[in-house]
Amino acid sequence: MKIIKVKNYDEMSEEALKIVLNVVKNKPNAVLGLATGSTPLGLYAKMAEDHKQNGTSYAECRAVNLDEYVGLDVNSDQSYVYFMRENLFKNIDIKLENTHIENGKAADKDEECTRYNALLDELQQDIQILGIGSNGHIAFNEPGTPFDSVTHIVDLAESTIKDNSRLFNSIDEVPRQAFTMGLSNIMNAKKIVILANGSGKAYAINELVNGEIREDVPATILRNHPDCTLICDELAGKDI
Ligand code: GLP
Repeated sequence: MKIIKVKNYDEMSEEALKIVLNVVKNKPNAVLGLATGSTPLGLYAKMAEDHKQNGTSYAECRAVNLDEYVGLDVNSDQSYVYFMRENLFKNIDIKLENTHIENGKAADKDEECTRYNALLDELQQDIQILGIGSNGHIAFNEPGTPFDSVTHIVDLAESTIKDNSRLFNSIDEVPRQAFTMGLSNIMNAKKIVILANGSGKAYAINELVNGEIREDVPATILRNHPDCTLICDELAGKDI
C-alpha cells in the first residue's frame, strides 16, 4: 500500500483529486466507485471546481456507490443517493442514469443485493474512493465481515450509529440497517484510494497500516490490493 501523508484536509482532497483526474483523463468512460461521508466532500468540491474551471468531463463516466441506508431513498435528505446528487452529481456533467447505488427502499432486499452484484460484475471500478469508519469499517462492512463478502444487508455497529448520528436530528432516526458493497466487490476495483482525516480515525489508520490483516478490522484487507493508496492528514496518521 502506498501512503501519502499530508498536512490537512485540503491537501488530502487535492492529492485525491490528482489521482481521480488522472484516471478520467486516461479513460473518459471510467467507472468511478464513490463513497459518502464527510471525508470525500472536499474531493467532490474540487472535482466540481475543476469541472467548472478546466472542463474535465464526466459525460461518459459511470458511477457506482458503496452503500445506502435501508428504508431511505432520494426523497430523504439523509439518504446517500441524495448526498451524491447534492454534493457531486449536480455539480458535474455525469448523467444521472449512469450513476448507481443500492435502492434503500427495495421491496425485496435479497433481490436488490443480487441486482447490485450483477451490476458490479459489469461495471468494474477503475477507481474506488473510500473513507474509513472509526472502527476500521469500509463502506458499511463492519468488524467481522467475511473478506469474500459481496453486496449484503448489515446491522450497523453501535459505534457507527453513534458516529453517523451527527447527520440526523436524533440518534433514534439513524437507520439500523444498510445495504453495502461487500469487501470482495471493493477489492475488485482496479485502483483504490482511501482517505482519512482527523484524530477520530487514528486507531483505524494505525490498524490499516500496522495491524494484522484480519476480518475484525475490515480495512486491513486493502493491504492485499495491488494498487491501493492511503492519503491521510497528520491527525489521522499520527500513529503510523
Ligand atoms: C459511513 C460510510 C462509510 C464512510 C464512513 C466514514 O459509515 N458508510 O463509507 O467511510 O461513514 O464517514 P466520515 O467520512 O463521515 O467520517
